[in-house]
Amino acid sequence: MAETINQWAVITIVLSGVALCFGVFFIRNHNREAHMRAMILASSFATIFLVLYLTRLGLGYEKRYAGPDTWRTAYYVLLISHIILATLNLPLALGALWNAYKGLKAAKNLSNIDAPVARGFFNKHRAWVRWTVPVWLYVAVTGWIIYLVLGQYGEVIKG
Ligand code: HEM
Repeated sequence: MAETINQWAVITIVLSGVALCFGVFFIRNHNREAHMRAMILASSFATIFLVLYLTRLGLGYEKRYAGPDTWRTAYYVLLISHIILATLNLPLALGALWNAYKGLKAAKNLSNIDAPVARGFFNKHRAWVRWTVPVWLYVAVTGWIIYLVLGQYGEVIKG
């Protein structure tokens, strides 16, 4: 049961990373509507991930690295950086979403985002996403790597 939840958690965090890449691609191509949809999808996957991850923690399931010693330090550097940035990703994503929401509300529609009432919010949105996007991508990619490493070299210590 906990193992299945863990698998779905990894699938959802990877899907959120894929949706994020589409979202960035769309905005680079000035497609705001598709950008908004992709980012809402990415945020929904990330929310499902969080629920699954917390459920897994609640079930007390845990795996420990039991692979070659030469890779132990690299593994823990990856794991600790992943945990720190995953925690940071939540307020970063909320800051980006909040400013997009306020901007859209002020602009009334996406073709009006340059209106003076909305511009400030979208400037802030751009400032937040400068950090949100790389952090989110790092978390999605390293989450997947950690899952693969533990699939190969992990040993269940609880669950
Ligand atoms: C956490 C979720 C989101 C992330 C990570 C994100 C990411 C981005 C990125 C990377 C850019 C390009 C910034 C640049 O060129 O400097 C951008 C711009 C933009 N985003 Fe988002 N976005 C998110 C959510 C949303 C949502 C929900 C909306 C819907 C209103 C939205 C609307 C826009 C618009 C209109 C722009 C263009 C802003 C401008 O031209 O100044 N974004 N976003």
